[in-house]
Parts: sequence; C-alpha cells; structure tokens
Amino acid sequence: MSVKTKRIVSIANQKGGVGKTTTAINMAAAIAQKGNKTLLIDLDPQGNASTGLGILPDDRDVTTYDVLVDGADVNDAAIKTDVRNLSILPATTDLSSADVQMMKDSDRLSRLGKALRSVEGFKYIFIDCPPSLNLLTLNAFAASDSVLVPLQSEFYALEGLSQLMLTVKEVRETMGSSLFIDGVVLTMFDRRNKLAQHVESDVRGNLGELVYETIIPRSVRLSEAPSYGETVLQYDATGLGAQAYLALGAEFLKRDKQR
Ligand SMILES: Nc1ncnc2c1ncn2[C@@H]1O[C@H](COP(=O)(O)OP(=O)(O)O)[C@@H](O)[C@H]1O
Ligand SMILES: [Mg+2]
Repeated sequence: MSVKTKRIVSIANQKGGVGKTTTAINMAAAIAQKGNKTLLIDLDPQGNASTGLGILPDDRDVTTYDVLVDGADVNDAAIKTDVRNLSILPATTDLSSADVQMMKDSDRLSRLGKALRSVEGFKYIFIDCPPSLNLLTLNAFAASDSVLVPLQSEFYALEGLSQLMLTVKEVRETMGSSLFIDGVVLTMFDRRNKLAQHVESDVRGNLGELVYETIIPRSVRLSEAPSYGETVLQYDATGLGAQAYLALGAEFLKRDKQR
C-alpha cells in the first residue's frame, strides 16, 4: 500500500476516563514503531495526548484549534515526537472554544475532514476525541474511516455505547460517509476481579467480533508514563502494558489488512 491510502481512525467514547488517550498514544506508538508513519491528532482541549507525548504547552505553536478555526495547515502544525515515525498535532485549552467559533459556519461538521485531505506522508491518522459527542467529536467522525472505542472493564461498560453507535449512523447518513466501528477494546482490565471477567463475557456476548481479542490490563506503568512525557513503549518497554499495546497495534494492523 502506498502512503497515499491513509487511514483515519477516531478513538472515541463519550465517557471520560475510560482509556481513550492512553490507547491513542500507545497504540499509535506501537503502529509507528512498526515502520508506519503515524499522526496523532489531539482533539481534546485538555491536551492530555500532547502532554503524554512530551510536548510542553509552550511548544504547541500551531494547534488543533488553529487548524479548525483559522484553517492552519496540518502539515506545518504537526510536531515530530521522540517516537520514530510518530507526529502529533497538539491541542491547548483554547480548543474548548472552537465549537462556539465554528457554530455559525455551514461547514462546521467538515472542518477537520477538509484539513486532513491535504495531509501527506502519513499512513495512519488517529484522533484522540474529547469525552463528549460534541461538535469536535462530530468533526472527528466526519473525517474518519472508522471509530475505535475503548471500554473500561467495569459494570457500566456498555452504557452509552448505543448512543455512540447511533451517532456513527447519523454521521454516515448526513455526511454520506462509510464510517464504521472498527472495534471495541477493553481497558483497565483486572484479571483477579470476578466482575471484570463477567464484564468481558458480557461485552463479547453482546458485540461479538467487534471486540478486540487483545485486552489492556490495569497497569500502574501505563498511568505513570505520561507524567514523564513518554509512551509506555519507552517508559516500560517489556512490561505488561507495553506488551498489550503492541499486541493491540498488531491486531489493528491485521484487521486493517483484511479489509
Ligand atoms: N490500563 C490502564 N491501567 C491503569 N491506568 C490506566 C489505564 N488506562 C488508563 N489509565 C489511567 O486512567 C486515567 C484515564 O485514562 P485516559 O486514557 O486519560 O482516559 P480518557 O482519555 O478516556 O479520559 C488516566 O489517569 C490514565 O493514566
Ligand atoms: Mg482523554
């Protein structure tokens, strides 16, 4: 496949704290590490993906806000990270006002998609979405080929998923896109916890093939890495968290190839 056939994937779940950003950073790093030029777009005003990849607020010169609101060129805005083949389009808190700025524009749903059309040199683009089905997330969905959904392994894991699926369907219909759910990945899984095992069989029973075989375990290393501005592949390369995200990246690439 040439670099031209780029694949754009939203990492989304309107619930906060389910592992979206952790998955975005570490899966993107795993895929980049395999030799695929990868761009991570930070679409959350909290900027956690930017921080997690070691981009300090002062170094975020051109941001996702500038791309969405002022039409800045993503090719210029993308910053190379310490991970080979991985770049990031950073975000700052001003992104929280982007929706208000875009509200009156007729192309408010397709701003990101338009901006990404001219992006060159990346095989995979992942979008770390905010914890809401707001205008930012709709822009991500409209720009994407598919959506990857991290689900926290807890009792209410499936709650909210039907709303997300409905939104995917609505974007497909209104934008005339072929957006689909690429898969669902269980995160923060605690093997010793009976409830977690119950949640897993429940989720697999309900969603079948949609659920990734790879499960992301609960791991302190995964939560520590961002405070050093490192992916878990840098911070704890041989640990269970790193292994899990390497496996998830490989499974993603395998699914992508089969399409
Ligand atoms: N597998 C994991 N094990 C332990 N902590 C995790 C794991 N995944 C995420 N975390 C931690 O949980 C919190 C929420 O994760 P995050 O990826 O930021 O979620 P979201 O982007 O969905 O809000 C963060 O503090 C993160 O470090
Ligand atoms: Mg996040």
